Amino acid sequence: MSRIKDAKLSKEGREELEWARENMPILAGIGKRFEQEKPFKGITIGVCLHLEKKTGVLLETLKKGGAVIAAASCNPLTTDDRVAAALAEEGMDVYAWAGENEKEYYANINSVLDHKPDLLIDDGCDQIFMVHTKRKELLKKIRGACEETTTGVTRLRAMEGEGKLKFPVVAVNDAYSKFLFDNRFGTAQSAIEAIMRATNKLLAGKTVVVVGFGWCGRGISDRLRGLGANVIVVEVCGRLGKEGPAGQHKALEALYSGFRVMNLDDAAGEGDIFITSTGNINVITKSHFAKMKDGAILANAGHFNNEIDIKGLESMSAKREKVKENVERFMLRSGKKIYLLSEGRLVNLSRPSGQGHPIEIMDGSFAIQALSLEFISKNKLPAKVISVPQEIDDKVAELALLANGIRLSKPSEEQKRYARSWKEGT
Ligand SMILES: NC(=O)c1ccc[n+]([C@@H]2O[C@H](COP(=O)([O-])OP(=O)(O)OC[C@H]3O[C@@H](n4cnc5c(N)ncnc54)[C@H](O)[C@@H]3O)[C@@H](O)[C@H]2O)c1
Repeated sequence: MSRIKDAKLSKEGREELEWARENMPILAGIGKRFEQEKPFKGITIGVCLHLEKKTGVLLETLKKGGAVIAAASCNPLTTDDRVAAALAEEGMDVYAWAGENEKEYYANINSVLDHKPDLLIDDGCDQIFMVHTKRKELLKKIRGACEETTTGVTRLRAMEGEGKLKFPVVAVNDAYSKFLFDNRFGTAQSAIEAIMRATNKLLAGKTVVVVGFGWCGRGISDRLRGLGANVIVVEVCGRLGKEGPAGQHKALEALYSGFRVMNLDDAAGEGDIFITSTGNINVITKSHFAKMKDGAILANAGHFNNEIDIKGLESMSAKREKVKENVERFMLRSGKKIYLLSEGRLVNLSRPSGQGHPIEIMDGSFAIQALSLEFISKNKLPAKVISVPQEIDDKVAELALLANGIRLSKPSEEQKRYARSWKEGT
Protein backbone atom coordinates (compact mmCIF):
# COMPACT_ATOMS: atom_id res chain seq x y z
CA MET A 1 0.00 0.00 0.00
CA SER A 2 1.70 3.20 -1.19
CA ARG A 3 2.26 6.36 0.90
CA ILE A 4 2.45 9.30 -1.51
CA LYS A 5 1.49 12.99 -1.57
CA ASP A 6 -1.65 12.82 -3.74
CA ALA A 7 -2.99 9.99 -5.93
CA LYS A 8 -4.87 12.57 -8.03
CA LEU A 9 -1.56 13.77 -9.51
CA SER A 10 -1.26 10.55 -11.51
CA LYS A 11 -2.52 12.00 -14.81
CA GLU A 12 0.31 14.56 -14.88
CA GLY A 13 2.70 11.83 -13.78
CA ARG A 14 1.63 9.65 -16.71
CA GLU A 15 2.36 12.53 -19.10
CA GLU A 16 5.81 13.02 -17.60
CA LEU A 17 6.54 9.30 -17.88
CA GLU A 18 5.37 9.18 -21.48
CA TRP A 19 7.76 12.00 -22.45
CA ALA A 20 10.66 10.26 -20.71
CA ARG A 21 9.81 6.89 -22.31
CA GLU A 22 9.80 8.45 -25.79
CA ASN A 23 13.35 9.68 -25.19
CA MET A 24 14.85 6.56 -23.63
CA PRO A 25 15.49 4.20 -26.56
CA ILE A 26 18.16 2.13 -24.80
CA LEU A 27 15.85 1.17 -21.93
CA ALA A 28 13.04 0.56 -24.45
CA GLY A 29 15.19 -2.06 -26.19
CA ILE A 30 16.13 -3.70 -22.89
CA GLY A 31 12.48 -3.63 -21.81
CA LYS A 32 11.41 -5.51 -24.95
CA ARG A 33 13.88 -8.29 -24.22
CA PHE A 34 12.96 -8.38 -20.50
CA GLU A 35 9.29 -8.72 -21.46
CA GLN A 36 10.08 -11.96 -23.31
CA GLU A 37 12.75 -13.41 -21.03
CA LYS A 38 11.33 -12.34 -17.62
CA PRO A 39 14.72 -12.34 -15.82
CA PHE A 40 13.13 -11.01 -12.59
CA LYS A 41 10.19 -13.41 -12.36
CA GLY A 42 9.33 -13.96 -8.68
CA ILE A 43 11.89 -11.35 -7.58
CA THR A 44 11.09 -8.32 -5.40
CA ILE A 45 13.34 -5.31 -5.94
CA GLY A 46 13.73 -2.72 -3.15
CA VAL A 47 14.48 0.65 -4.71
CA CYS A 48 15.96 3.77 -3.12
CA LEU A 49 16.48 6.28 -5.94
CA HIS A 50 15.48 9.86 -6.79
CA LEU A 51 11.88 9.15 -7.75
CA GLU A 52 11.22 11.13 -10.87
CA LYS A 53 10.27 10.38 -14.46
CA LYS A 54 13.48 8.73 -15.70
CA THR A 55 13.61 6.51 -12.61
CA GLY A 56 9.98 5.69 -13.34
CA VAL A 57 10.96 4.33 -16.77
CA LEU A 58 13.70 2.19 -15.19
CA LEU A 59 11.18 0.75 -12.73
CA GLU A 60 8.71 0.04 -15.54
CA THR A 61 11.50 -1.75 -17.43
CA LEU A 62 12.25 -3.97 -14.42
CA LYS A 63 8.53 -4.64 -13.96
CA LYS A 64 8.33 -5.79 -17.59
CA GLY A 65 11.02 -8.30 -16.63
CA GLY A 66 8.70 -9.76 -13.99
CA ALA A 67 9.91 -7.84 -10.91
CA VAL A 68 7.71 -6.69 -8.05
CA ILE A 69 8.77 -3.14 -7.15
CA ALA A 70 8.78 -1.35 -3.79
CA ALA A 71 10.34 2.12 -3.91
CA ALA A 72 11.36 5.03 -1.69
CA SER A 73 13.40 8.15 -2.46
CA CYS A 74 17.10 8.44 -1.69
CA ASN A 75 16.67 12.12 -0.84
CA PRO A 76 13.90 13.93 1.07
CA LEU A 77 13.51 16.70 -1.54
CA THR A 78 13.77 14.94 -4.89
CA THR A 79 10.52 13.01 -5.39
CA ASP A 80 8.31 14.14 -8.24
CA ASP A 81 4.92 13.66 -6.57
CA ARG A 82 3.19 13.38 -9.96
CA VAL A 83 5.43 10.49 -11.03
CA ALA A 84 5.14 8.82 -7.61
CA ALA A 85 1.33 8.87 -8.05
CA ALA A 86 1.53 7.39 -11.57
CA LEU A 87 3.88 4.59 -10.48
CA ALA A 88 1.60 3.74 -7.54
CA GLU A 89 -1.29 3.57 -10.01
CA GLU A 90 0.76 1.11 -12.11
CA GLY A 91 0.83 -1.25 -9.12
CA MET A 92 4.18 -0.43 -7.56
CA ASP A 93 4.40 0.20 -3.81
CA VAL A 94 5.76 3.72 -3.49
CA TYR A 95 6.71 5.38 -0.20
CA ALA A 96 7.87 8.88 -1.06
CA TRP A 97 6.93 12.54 -1.36
CA ALA A 98 8.83 15.78 -1.83
CA GLY A 99 9.65 17.45 1.48
CA GLU A 100 9.94 14.41 3.77
CA ASN A 101 11.43 15.14 7.17
CA GLU A 102 14.30 12.98 8.38
CA LYS A 103 12.07 10.60 10.34
CA GLU A 104 9.72 10.13 7.38
CA TYR A 105 12.66 9.61 5.03
CA TYR A 106 14.02 6.66 7.02
CA ALA A 107 10.52 5.30 7.75
CA ASN A 108 9.88 5.18 3.99
CA ILE A 109 13.07 3.20 3.30
CA ASN A 110 12.09 0.89 6.14
CA SER A 111 8.66 0.35 4.53
CA VAL A 112 10.39 -0.72 1.30
CA LEU A 113 12.39 -3.25 3.30
CA ASP A 114 9.17 -4.60 4.83
CA HIS A 115 8.56 -6.10 1.36
CA LYS A 116 11.52 -8.44 2.00
CA PRO A 117 13.33 -7.68 -1.26
CA ASP A 118 15.62 -10.13 -3.08
CA LEU A 119 17.58 -7.38 -4.85
CA LEU A 120 18.22 -3.72 -4.00
CA ILE A 121 18.97 -0.60 -5.99
CA ASP A 122 20.48 2.18 -3.91
CA ASP A 123 21.77 5.69 -4.48
CA GLY A 124 23.99 6.89 -1.63
CA CYS A 125 23.92 3.57 0.31
CA ASP A 126 21.26 4.53 2.91
CA GLN A 127 19.12 1.48 2.11
CA ILE A 128 22.05 -0.96 2.14
CA PHE A 129 23.30 0.62 5.37
CA MET A 130 19.86 0.18 7.00
CA VAL A 131 19.79 -3.52 6.08
CA HIS A 132 23.26 -4.02 7.60
CA THR A 133 22.43 -2.19 10.85
CA LYS A 134 18.70 -2.22 11.64
CA ARG A 135 17.20 -4.92 9.38
CA LYS A 136 19.83 -7.66 9.63
CA GLU A 137 17.14 -10.36 9.43
CA LEU A 138 16.92 -9.54 5.68
CA LEU A 139 20.60 -10.25 4.99
CA LYS A 140 20.00 -13.94 4.27
CA LYS A 141 17.41 -13.29 1.59
CA ILE A 142 19.08 -10.43 -0.27
CA ARG A 143 21.09 -11.69 -3.24
CA GLY A 144 22.77 -8.43 -4.08
CA ALA A 145 22.43 -4.77 -4.92
CA CYS A 146 23.42 -2.04 -7.36
CA GLU A 147 24.78 1.31 -6.17
CA GLU A 148 24.31 4.40 -8.33
CA THR A 149 26.63 7.13 -7.02
CA THR A 150 30.21 7.96 -5.98
CA THR A 151 29.34 8.62 -2.33
CA GLY A 152 27.50 5.29 -2.05
CA VAL A 153 30.43 3.38 -3.55
CA THR A 154 32.83 5.14 -1.16
CA ARG A 155 30.72 4.00 1.82
CA LEU A 156 30.50 0.46 0.42
CA ARG A 157 34.26 0.17 -0.05
CA ALA A 158 34.70 1.26 3.59
CA MET A 159 32.20 -1.45 4.67
CA GLU A 160 34.01 -4.03 2.52
CA GLY A 161 37.39 -2.96 3.95
CA GLU A 162 36.15 -3.60 7.49
CA GLY A 163 34.66 -6.98 6.49
CA LYS A 164 31.12 -5.68 7.13
CA LEU A 165 29.60 -6.03 3.65
CA LYS A 166 27.35 -9.09 3.59
CA PHE A 167 26.16 -9.30 -0.04
CA PRO A 168 27.56 -8.39 -3.47
CA VAL A 169 27.04 -4.84 -4.70
CA VAL A 170 27.72 -3.78 -8.28
CA ALA A 171 29.26 -0.29 -8.37
CA VAL A 172 27.22 1.05 -11.28
CA ASN A 173 28.77 4.46 -10.60
CA ASP A 174 32.21 3.17 -11.51
CA ALA A 175 31.35 2.04 -15.05
CA TYR A 176 33.33 4.23 -17.41
CA SER A 177 30.23 5.13 -19.38
CA LYS A 178 28.38 6.12 -16.17
CA PHE A 179 31.12 8.61 -15.25
CA LEU A 180 30.89 10.04 -18.71
CA PHE A 181 27.12 10.09 -19.21
CA ASP A 182 26.10 11.00 -15.79
CA ASN A 183 28.61 12.52 -13.39
CA ARG A 184 30.32 14.66 -15.99
CA PHE A 185 27.81 15.75 -18.65
CA GLY A 186 24.59 15.07 -16.73
CA THR A 187 25.53 16.88 -13.52
CA ALA A 188 26.97 19.76 -15.51
CA GLN A 189 23.79 20.53 -17.42
CA SER A 190 21.33 19.75 -14.64
CA ALA A 191 23.14 21.59 -11.83
CA ILE A 192 23.60 24.74 -13.91
CA GLU A 193 20.01 24.51 -15.18
CA ALA A 194 18.72 24.24 -11.59
CA ILE A 195 20.76 27.24 -10.41
CA MET A 196 19.46 29.29 -13.34
CA ARG A 197 15.86 28.24 -12.70
CA ALA A 198 16.09 28.93 -8.95
CA THR A 199 17.75 32.35 -9.31
CA ASN A 200 16.95 33.45 -12.89
CA LYS A 201 20.36 35.16 -12.84
CA LEU A 202 22.85 35.68 -15.64
CA LEU A 203 25.97 33.52 -15.43
CA ALA A 204 27.98 35.38 -18.04
CA GLY A 205 30.48 37.66 -16.33
CA LYS A 206 29.97 36.10 -12.89
CA THR A 207 32.83 34.53 -10.97
CA VAL A 208 31.81 30.99 -10.12
CA VAL A 209 33.90 28.95 -7.70
CA VAL A 210 33.67 25.21 -8.39
CA VAL A 211 34.84 23.22 -5.38
CA GLY A 212 36.04 19.73 -6.38
CA PHE A 213 37.30 19.02 -9.91
CA GLY A 214 36.34 15.35 -10.11
CA TRP A 215 33.98 13.93 -12.70
CA CYS A 216 31.14 16.27 -11.68
CA GLY A 217 33.26 19.38 -11.06
CA ARG A 218 35.07 19.08 -14.39
CA GLY A 219 31.78 18.93 -16.28
CA ILE A 220 30.30 21.84 -14.33
CA SER A 221 33.41 23.98 -14.91
CA ASP A 222 33.46 23.28 -18.67
CA ARG A 223 29.81 24.14 -19.16
CA LEU A 224 30.03 27.29 -16.98
CA ARG A 225 32.89 28.50 -19.14
CA GLY A 226 30.69 27.96 -22.20
CA LEU A 227 28.08 30.25 -20.64
CA GLY A 228 30.62 33.03 -20.15
CA ALA A 229 31.32 32.61 -16.42
CA ASN A 230 34.79 33.19 -14.96
CA VAL A 231 35.50 29.86 -13.30
CA ILE A 232 37.80 29.37 -10.32
CA VAL A 233 38.52 25.73 -9.44
CA VAL A 234 39.27 24.70 -5.86
CA GLU A 235 40.88 21.34 -5.08
CA VAL A 236 42.77 19.79 -2.15
CA CYS A 237 46.36 18.62 -2.05
CA GLY A 238 46.03 15.00 -1.00
CA ARG A 239 44.48 11.66 -1.74
CA LEU A 240 41.11 10.89 -0.18
CA GLY A 241 40.58 7.42 -1.64
CA LYS A 242 43.22 4.79 -2.42
CA GLU A 243 42.54 4.73 -6.14
CA GLY A 244 42.41 7.32 -8.90
CA PRO A 245 44.07 10.70 -9.10
CA ALA A 246 45.04 12.81 -6.08
CA GLY A 247 43.60 16.29 -5.63
CA GLN A 248 46.80 17.85 -6.96
CA HIS A 249 46.45 15.88 -10.23
CA LYS A 250 42.95 17.26 -10.62
CA ALA A 251 44.14 20.77 -9.77
CA LEU A 252 46.84 20.54 -12.47
CA GLU A 253 44.29 19.23 -14.96
CA ALA A 254 42.10 22.26 -14.17
CA LEU A 255 45.03 24.63 -14.54
CA TYR A 256 46.09 23.14 -17.88
CA SER A 257 42.47 23.27 -19.03
CA GLY A 258 42.70 27.03 -18.64
CA PHE A 259 40.89 27.58 -15.31
CA ARG A 260 42.13 29.68 -12.40
CA VAL A 261 43.02 27.34 -9.55
CA MET A 262 43.38 28.30 -5.89
CA ASN A 263 42.49 27.24 -2.37
CA LEU A 264 39.13 28.15 -0.88
CA ASP A 265 40.57 30.67 1.58
CA ASP A 266 41.69 32.75 -1.41
CA ALA A 267 38.68 32.05 -3.62
CA ALA A 268 36.07 32.81 -0.90
CA GLY A 269 36.27 36.58 -1.38
CA GLU A 270 36.14 36.39 -5.19
CA GLY A 271 33.09 34.23 -5.95
CA ASP A 272 29.62 35.41 -6.83
CA ILE A 273 28.41 31.78 -6.88
CA PHE A 274 29.92 28.69 -5.21
CA ILE A 275 29.15 25.11 -6.32
CA THR A 276 30.43 22.12 -4.33
CA SER A 277 30.71 18.57 -5.70
CA THR A 278 33.40 16.89 -3.61
CA GLY A 279 31.57 14.07 -1.81
CA ASN A 280 33.34 15.42 1.29
CA ILE A 281 32.19 17.00 4.55
CA ASN A 282 32.40 20.65 5.75
CA VAL A 283 34.09 21.91 2.63
CA ILE A 284 32.78 25.49 2.84
CA THR A 285 32.89 26.63 6.48
CA LYS A 286 32.55 29.70 8.71
CA SER A 287 35.95 31.18 7.87
CA HIS A 288 34.91 31.14 4.19
CA PHE A 289 31.45 32.65 4.80
CA ALA A 290 33.16 35.48 6.69
CA LYS A 291 35.21 36.36 3.58
CA MET A 292 32.36 36.12 1.04
CA LYS A 293 30.88 39.05 -0.86
CA ASP A 294 27.48 40.40 0.08
CA GLY A 295 24.91 38.42 -1.95
CA ALA A 296 27.07 35.35 -2.59
CA ILE A 297 25.06 32.29 -3.68
CA LEU A 298 25.85 28.76 -2.44
CA ALA A 299 24.79 25.54 -4.18
CA ASN A 300 25.75 21.91 -3.69
CA ALA A 301 25.85 19.19 -6.36
CA GLY A 302 27.49 16.53 -4.15
CA HIS A 303 25.41 13.68 -2.78
CA PHE A 304 24.85 14.78 0.85
CA ASN A 305 23.88 18.14 2.32
CA ASN A 306 27.02 18.26 4.46
CA GLU A 307 29.46 19.90 2.01
CA ILE A 308 28.37 23.40 3.08
CA ASP A 309 28.48 23.92 6.87
CA ILE A 310 24.89 25.13 7.16
CA LYS A 311 24.86 25.01 10.97
CA GLY A 312 27.96 27.24 10.96
CA LEU A 313 26.28 29.65 8.54
CA GLU A 314 23.17 29.71 10.73
CA SER A 315 25.28 30.45 13.82
CA MET A 316 26.69 33.55 12.10
CA SER A 317 23.24 34.76 11.05
CA ALA A 318 20.66 36.95 12.73
CA LYS A 319 17.95 35.49 10.46
CA ARG A 320 17.39 32.57 8.03
CA GLU A 321 14.35 33.00 5.78
CA LYS A 322 12.85 31.56 2.62
CA VAL A 323 12.96 34.00 -0.28
CA LYS A 324 11.22 31.76 -2.83
CA GLU A 325 11.17 28.09 -3.85
CA ASN A 326 14.70 26.67 -3.51
CA VAL A 327 16.23 29.96 -2.30
CA GLU A 328 16.94 30.91 1.34
CA ARG A 329 18.51 34.12 2.60
CA PHE A 330 20.89 34.16 5.59
CA MET A 331 21.20 37.66 7.11
CA LEU A 332 24.61 37.60 8.75
CA ARG A 333 25.13 39.61 11.91
CA SER A 334 27.88 41.46 10.00
CA GLY A 335 25.08 42.93 7.82
CA LYS A 336 25.92 40.77 4.79
CA LYS A 337 23.47 38.45 2.95
CA ILE A 338 24.33 34.95 1.77
CA TYR A 339 21.88 32.86 -0.27
CA LEU A 340 21.64 29.07 -0.05
CA LEU A 341 19.93 27.02 -2.75
CA SER A 342 17.86 23.90 -1.99
CA GLU A 343 18.91 23.70 1.69
CA GLY A 344 22.38 22.64 0.52
CA ARG A 345 20.98 19.39 -0.93
CA LEU A 346 21.68 18.16 -4.47
CA VAL A 347 20.72 21.32 -6.34
CA ASN A 348 20.07 19.57 -9.64
CA LEU A 349 17.53 17.19 -8.16
CA SER A 350 15.77 19.39 -5.61
CA ARG A 351 12.35 20.24 -6.89
CA PRO A 352 10.95 22.41 -8.35
CA SER A 353 14.03 24.04 -9.90
CA GLY A 354 16.00 20.78 -10.12
CA GLN A 355 14.72 18.38 -12.76
CA GLY A 356 17.54 15.88 -12.56
CA HIS A 357 19.82 14.85 -15.37
CA PRO A 358 18.73 15.13 -18.99
CA ILE A 359 16.66 12.15 -20.14
CA GLU A 360 19.25 10.77 -22.59
CA ILE A 361 21.86 10.71 -19.80
CA MET A 362 19.63 8.66 -17.53
CA ASP A 363 18.76 6.34 -20.41
CA GLY A 364 22.43 5.32 -20.39
CA SER A 365 22.90 5.26 -16.59
CA PHE A 366 19.74 3.27 -15.99
CA ALA A 367 20.53 0.86 -18.82
CA ILE A 368 23.68 0.00 -16.84
CA GLN A 369 21.51 -0.39 -13.71
CA ALA A 370 19.03 -2.72 -15.45
CA LEU A 371 21.73 -4.92 -17.02
CA SER A 372 23.81 -5.02 -13.82
CA LEU A 373 20.77 -6.10 -11.83
CA GLU A 374 20.13 -8.88 -14.35
CA PHE A 375 23.81 -9.87 -13.98
CA ILE A 376 23.44 -10.17 -10.18
CA SER A 377 20.20 -12.15 -10.45
CA LYS A 378 21.84 -14.68 -12.81
CA ASN A 379 25.21 -15.13 -11.07
CA LYS A 380 26.39 -16.21 -7.65
CA LEU A 381 28.81 -13.48 -6.60
CA PRO A 382 31.00 -12.89 -3.51
CA ALA A 383 30.03 -10.30 -0.86
CA LYS A 384 32.20 -7.60 -2.35
CA VAL A 385 32.00 -4.36 -4.29
CA ILE A 386 31.91 -5.65 -7.87
CA SER A 387 32.74 -3.78 -11.07
CA VAL A 388 30.19 -3.53 -13.83
CA PRO A 389 31.13 -6.27 -16.35
CA GLN A 390 33.06 -4.69 -19.20
CA GLU A 391 30.65 -6.12 -21.81
CA ILE A 392 27.79 -4.17 -20.19
CA ASP A 393 29.83 -0.96 -19.98
CA ASP A 394 30.95 -1.25 -23.63
CA LYS A 395 27.51 -2.28 -24.91
CA VAL A 396 25.68 0.62 -23.28
CA ALA A 397 28.13 3.14 -24.77
CA GLU A 398 27.59 1.52 -28.20
CA LEU A 399 23.81 1.65 -27.77
CA ALA A 400 24.00 5.32 -26.75
CA LEU A 401 25.91 6.07 -29.94
CA LEU A 402 23.35 4.14 -32.00
CA ALA A 403 20.59 6.17 -30.31
CA ASN A 404 22.36 9.22 -31.75
CA GLY A 405 22.46 7.65 -35.20
CA ILE A 406 26.19 6.89 -35.01
CA ARG A 407 27.46 3.47 -36.06
CA LEU A 408 31.23 3.05 -35.69
CA SER A 409 33.18 0.50 -37.70
CA LYS A 410 34.86 -2.33 -35.75
CA PRO A 411 38.64 -2.81 -35.71
CA SER A 412 39.76 -5.45 -38.25
CA GLU A 413 41.16 -8.84 -37.13
CA GLU A 414 44.61 -7.63 -38.25
CA GLN A 415 44.27 -4.49 -36.10
CA LYS A 416 43.14 -6.51 -33.07
CA ARG A 417 46.11 -8.87 -33.49
CA TYR A 418 48.51 -5.91 -33.87
CA ALA A 419 47.16 -4.22 -30.73
CA ARG A 420 47.80 -7.39 -28.69
CA SER A 421 51.17 -8.26 -30.18
CA TRP A 422 54.62 -7.45 -28.74
CA LYS A 423 56.51 -8.74 -31.78
CA GLU A 424 55.20 -6.43 -34.50
CA GLY A 425 56.92 -3.06 -33.99
CA THR A 426 56.55 -1.72 -37.52
N1 LIG B 1 24.46 15.94 -8.56
C1 LIG B 1 24.42 14.76 -9.15
O1 LIG B 1 23.48 14.44 -9.87
C2 LIG B 1 25.55 13.83 -8.97
C3 LIG B 1 25.90 12.90 -9.98
C4 LIG B 1 27.00 12.07 -9.76
C5 LIG B 1 27.70 12.15 -8.56
N2 LIG B 1 27.29 13.03 -7.59
C6 LIG B 1 27.97 13.19 -6.29
O2 LIG B 1 28.91 14.26 -6.45
C7 LIG B 1 30.03 14.05 -5.58
C8 LIG B 1 31.31 14.05 -6.43
O3 LIG B 1 31.27 12.98 -7.36
P1 LIG B 1 32.45 12.78 -8.44
O4 LIG B 1 32.07 11.58 -9.24
O5 LIG B 1 32.77 14.07 -9.11
O6 LIG B 1 33.65 12.39 -7.43
P2 LIG B 1 35.23 12.47 -7.70
O7 LIG B 1 35.83 11.61 -6.66
O8 LIG B 1 35.53 12.22 -9.14
O9 LIG B 1 35.58 14.02 -7.41
C9 LIG B 1 35.57 14.62 -6.14
C10 LIG B 1 36.70 15.66 -6.15
O10 LIG B 1 36.57 16.49 -5.02
C11 LIG B 1 37.88 16.77 -4.50
N3 LIG B 1 37.77 17.15 -3.09
C12 LIG B 1 37.54 16.35 -2.01
N4 LIG B 1 37.51 17.08 -0.88
C13 LIG B 1 37.72 18.36 -1.25
C14 LIG B 1 37.80 19.60 -0.54
N5 LIG B 1 37.69 19.64 0.78
N6 LIG B 1 38.03 20.73 -1.24
C15 LIG B 1 38.18 20.71 -2.60
N7 LIG B 1 38.12 19.57 -3.33
C16 LIG B 1 37.88 18.41 -2.66
C17 LIG B 1 38.64 15.45 -4.73
O11 LIG B 1 40.04 15.67 -4.72
C18 LIG B 1 38.11 15.02 -6.08
O12 LIG B 1 38.91 15.48 -7.16
C19 LIG B 1 29.74 12.72 -4.87
O13 LIG B 1 29.09 13.00 -3.65
C20 LIG B 1 28.79 12.01 -5.82
O14 LIG B 1 28.01 11.05 -5.16
C21 LIG B 1 26.26 13.88 -7.79
